[in-house]
Amino acid sequence: MASPKAPESLVERVLVTEEQITARVAELGASIAHDHQGRDVRLITILRGGLIFLADLCRAIDLPLQVDFMAVSSYVGGRPGVVRVTKDLDDSIEGASVIVVEDIVDTGLTLNYILRMLKERQPATLEVCTLLDKDVRRIVDLPITYRGFSIPDRFVVGYGLDVNGLYRNLPFVATVRDEALAGAG
Ligand code: PRP
Repeated sequence: MASPKAPESLVERVLVTEEQITARVAELGASIAHDHQGRDVRLITILRGGLIFLADLCRAIDLPLQVDFMAVSSYVGGRPGVVRVTKDLDDSIEGASVIVVEDIVDTGLTLNYILRMLKERQPATLEVCTLLDKDVRRIVDLPITYRGFSIPDRFVVGYGLDVNGLYRNLPFVATVRDEALAGAG
């Protein structure tokens, strides 16, 4: 199977290779399975960036589990960290062992808001699994139980992360050249 390739004008350097991701996802999946035997496990992903990680992670967890999805958007001109839910979960999480699966935690504001909201729904446990942790940018402290890689304060693309909506399907995570970022959010 041919892997998607990125133009040289986009990628500065590969930060996490496909092989490193595969190995780490297997480790994270094994840890989650070990820690959640006999629980009602729900993996919840915030669209769209977490989609690729979720797809691989759920297949690395040798337990019965369910997946559900939420989509949010920032209020334009609103207070930082206040998000609007544009697609809510389909199922109740009351009494469930919830793991929020993210591609990246940056300032932590998005996840902080979502965790507060989910906590009110009274899950048995509420944890976070993120592939990438840009911890130097953190504004709010978050309990991250499962972490793939800590990364520096650089704009990154691939494995779910986009530049102007593109390149989520790259199998690795790379830093982006400054010239390629014009207009990217
Ligand atoms: C990314 C990521 C997190 C959020 C992290 O989503 O998936 O949800 O940013 O940023 P924070 O820690 O500073 O709040 P993004 O807004 O890029 O949307 P996407 O997942 O659709 O790409």
